[in-house]
Amino acid sequence: MNALRWAEYLDHFHQDRPGITEDILTRARGADGATDPYRWLLEPLDGVTPVLDLACGSAPLWRRQDPHGWIGVDRSAGELTRAVTAGAGRLVRGDAATLPFATGRFAGIACSMAIMLLQPFPSAVRELARVLAPGGIGVLLLPGRRPLTPADLTRYARLMVHLHRARLAYPNDRVTVRLDAALAREGLRVTGDERRRFAIPFDDRDSVARFVESLYLPGVPAHRVAAAVASLQGWRGSEIGVPLRRVVFRRA
Ligand SMILES: C[S@@+](CC[C@H](N)C(=O)[O-])C[C@H]1O[C@@H](n2cnc3c(N)ncnc32)[C@H](O)[C@@H]1O
Repeated sequence: MNALRWAEYLDHFHQDRPGITEDILTRARGADGATDPYRWLLEPLDGVTPVLDLACGSAPLWRRQDPHGWIGVDRSAGELTRAVTAGAGRLVRGDAATLPFATGRFAGIACSMAIMLLQPFPSAVRELARVLAPGGIGVLLLPGRRPLTPADLTRYARLMVHLHRARLAYPNDRVTVRLDAALAREGLRVTGDERRRFAIPFDDRDSVARFVESLYLPGVPAHRVAAAVASLQGWRGSEIGVPLRRVVFRRA
């Protein structure tokens, strides 16, 4: 799928399902049973202000940060409407490739579950570097491939069979394997690159359906998604692991 088709797919996806990423990730827990992925992401930004929440979606990060120093930007009107409804403060509708902020405006940048999507990727990284102040710190959260338990791997394999897909894919997969190199080209130095498994509980039928619905599945017909959800109801009462990656960087 080319970049334009991906952009159209993502715009429709988020218009139709605002807040779905927040709904899934706020229920996810790390090995300590307490930390969710957003809390983990923000640890390196403790005390940093002002912070740009790049591709903020429904703004799950704003209440976890100093609300006065937080600004969220996203291109989805649907996501921003949900953020407003939740009471999020300073929101801007804009595109990551042409950020409407002054150079060096932010001491910190958080980008949760979006760096693997942003198009065109080189422009988004250039803009991210431009608005970050010298010495500023950035954090990225993105899907990983590990760690997963053997039970998780079996579940993903079964899900992929139902969906007739080889694996979950994102438009920037080729560049995110070498994020350090892509960031270095814009004067950003990676200081941390960690991976963690978070568990998502499947309490009821709806939580299985919501998890599957939260996956980007361009080209997969709705009837196949529905059939996958129906056949995975045996997962109720258990959980699935989501492998996430946190990248921390600094601007020289
Ligand atoms: C998976 S959601 C993550 C939302 C939120 N950060 C979270 O973690 O819950 C991805 C977000 O990226 C936004 N997005 C995708 N491409 C974008 C772009 N070029 N500029 C701004 N936002 C973009 C989408 O509208 C969507 O809200």
